Amino acid sequence: MDPSPGTAALLVQAQAAPDTLGLADWAALLAADGPTDRTALHAAAYAVKRREVGPVIRARGLVEFSNHCVQNCRYCGIRRDNRGAVRYQLDAAEIVAAARGVHAAGYGSLVLQAGERRDPAFIEFVAEALVAIHAATGGSLGVTLSLGEQSPAAYRRWREAGAHRYLLRIETSDRGLFRALHPADQDWDGRAACLDLLRDAGYQVGTGVLIGLPGQTAAHLAADLLFLRDRDVDMIGMGPFIPHDGTPLADAPCAPARQLDLGLAMIACARLLLPDANIAATTALEALEPAGRRLGLLAGANVVMPNHTPADRRGAYDLYRGKPTAADTRAALVALADTIGETVGWHEAGDAPRWRRRAGRN
Ligand code: 5AD
Repeated sequence: MDPSPGTAALLVQAQAAPDTLGLADWAALLAADGPTDRTALHAAAYAVKRREVGPVIRARGLVEFSNHCVQNCRYCGIRRDNRGAVRYQLDAAEIVAAARGVHAAGYGSLVLQAGERRDPAFIEFVAEALVAIHAATGGSLGVTLSLGEQSPAAYRRWREAGAHRYLLRIETSDRGLFRALHPADQDWDGRAACLDLLRDAGYQVGTGVLIGLPGQTAAHLAADLLFLRDRDVDMIGMGPFIPHDGTPLADAPCAPARQLDLGLAMIACARLLLPDANIAATTALEALEPAGRRLGLLAGANVVMPNHTPADRRGAYDLYRGKPTAADTRAALVALADTIGETVGWHEAGDAPRWRRRAGRN
């Protein structure tokens, strides 16, 4: 069956000239959730992905090294006030060992993620860990940080110590929705300013949003897409909201099929709008559906972040209900790539073509 005429026309325009689509157009694409319209959306985005970034899955080994957090985001399982969270912090030797494991498994890229801390001891701890990781892996591992809002000096310190990419989700581009999801001491403009600081400090910058939040409409999500485009980000990591029982949003409505559908549609629209960005098929997709990441790749994503947190701590980095704790073997990743006729970019840092073009590296 063919997609509806409205969707078909928008997809032709999105592939040829995505910047000519406005808020109402993206909202219409997101709202057109019939199966044939969705199939057409995913296929259009997948074609753009193959053309722009090739049939290669970019794999990053993810190490979640601490779940201590000073922030109190109302959706997040490791928020400061969740007394049920079992807190942990890997020491420097454990982080380096995990990084060595990522390197030895053939990855060219490591992501270090943790709850947010801004005290000088933490800033220094991370800087020293970065230096030790590069020493232990011969400087051949690209390192991405995901450590929240920090000062300009902290961002610079870590950049100089060897991190070259940074992920900081804006969570939503809508100030009102942001306010509803965060305590008063967290401020949308402050977070957005951090994205500029990161660019100024020389990082490849990634951001993204939560999808399917209470009170979030197709127009909000369309505005999120335009935010990503206007910020000209290199990397996009976004995923469906899934409630966590230890948070104020524990009872928020969450229909898994709907969250998955919206998550995939957002990936597809992001690929159409930022054709040469690195876009992640995030773990939250997998929490909703075992094949979630593969569906994400087929909807236009090109990055996966297999979990390499030491197995005995993995369960404690508990952001949302049902977060998967299984580790991907090298064989499993190869099999995933095989099922969609792609390969894995082993031993490559896998910079976003978007960044290379902007930086004049092509
Ligand atoms: N559902 C989905 N994603 C979540 N995150 C935090 N809590 C949840 C949740 N309940 C995401 C946030 C954060 C990232 C590290 O994890 O977007 O930026």
